[in-house]
Amino acid sequence: MKRWRALFPGVGIFFFTALPGLVTADRAEALLPSHNCAYCHAIHNAAGETLLNSDVVETLCLTCHGPAGISSLKADIHTDSTTAPTFRQSCRDCHDPHDNLPNWLGGTNIKLTGTVQDESGLALIATPNSGIRNVIFENRTSFIQGAPYYDGVCETCHTLTAFHRNNPSGVHNHKLGTTCTTCHDHANYFLPR
Ligand code: HEC
Ligand code: HEC
Ligand code: HEC
Ligand code: HEC
Ligand code: HEC
Repeated sequence: MKRWRALFPGVGIFFFTALPGLVTADRAEALLPSHNCAYCHAIHNAAGETLLNSDVVETLCLTCHGPAGISSLKADIHTDSTTAPTFRQSCRDCHDPHDNLPNWLGGTNIKLTGTVQDESGLALIATPNSGIRNVIFENRTSFIQGAPYYDGVCETCHTLTAFHRNNPSGVHNHKLGTTCTTCHDHANYFLPR
């Protein structure tokens, strides 16, 4: 409800289109210019909660970012197997659908990475095995942070991988300084091609 009030102070009805004046300036700037509210929300006949166009957020995102979608930027979930997964992270586990969020280092994450699980407004991720942690991703050379925080976007969740865990154990020099996703393709579950 917090976003509700921030977006429409004193307004009791949802209006998602053609109301830029009512959207607070910071929200309007934070929202991707390429993401129109109506891409994800509908005033009438919405299928999901909060007037979403689909009742499953992952399905909604993949409508456009899946193989047949209108966006040229292709993506998928993060998993080791689609048939017998030992782990499965979906879009909303890593992305905030609305905003590029600030991180605790004072910068701002790119590509909508980071979600908010508390009132701090900072980019955080609810990790599978390490609770809620910071996540840093300011450019395509900052996928990892290393010691002492290990909170880069490609390490903050990891506790069992051979490389780039969120703690000092394991190997931390695998492909240092590279753009991890040139090999770990988002459209291939982040597994190396
Ligand atoms: C890329 C898809 C997407 C776009 C674009 C989008 N939203 Fe949302 N919105 C969501 C999702 C998903 C939720 C469900 C809650 C969540 O997952 O945070 C949501 C929830 C909301 C809520 C409920 C409160 C909340 O924060 O959960 C409001 C209000 C809202 N959106 C307003 C807007 C407005 C206004 C715009 C355009 C300025 C917009 N949204 C654009 C995906 C989107
Ligand atoms: C109706 C289509 C549509 C839907 C639904 C949609 N997107 Fe997008 N998204 C786009 C388009 C279009 C772009 C701009 C790139 C392009 O032109 O292909 C984009 C760009 C992005 C980007 C790149 C932003 C950047 O800074 O480069 C991210 C990340 C993203 N979308 C995530 C999501 C997530 C997460 C969801 C679901 C909550 C979602 N999108 C739902 C159409 C969509
Ligand atoms: C494990 C975390 C994670 C999950 C899960 C995840 N993403 Fe992403 N996403 C990222 C990261 C990190 C990037 C930046 C990749 C890069 O810049 O190379 C990104 C980038 C993107 C982009 C922009 C790609 C580009 O080339 O600019 C889109 C679109 C996107 N994600 C959509 C999605 C959708 C849709 C889902 C769910 C089906 C999803 N993401 C699930 C972490 C995630
Ligand atoms: C939201 C949490 C999360 C984020 C963010 C994340 N991962 Fe993972 N990843 C996991 C989990 C959970 C595992 C299972 C092992 C573990 O728990 O350490 C895993 C395992 C992996 C594996 C091993 C897969 C296998 O076959 O066993 C690779 C490769 C991987 N991640 C790459 C990446 C890359 C590259 C990024 C950044 C683009 C990334 N991960 C970001 C959650 C995440
Ligand atoms: C040049 C391609 C390439 C780049 C760039 C790359 N990787 Fe990898 N990565 C691989 C390959 C191939 C494997 C599997 C074989 C192996 O274990 O070496 C792998 C394995 C992994 C694993 C799983 C290790 C395990 O078995 O548990 C993780 C996690 C990982 N990479 C993270 C990253 C991160 C983070 C980055 C960016 C700093 C990165 N990779 C950059 C090719 C690459």
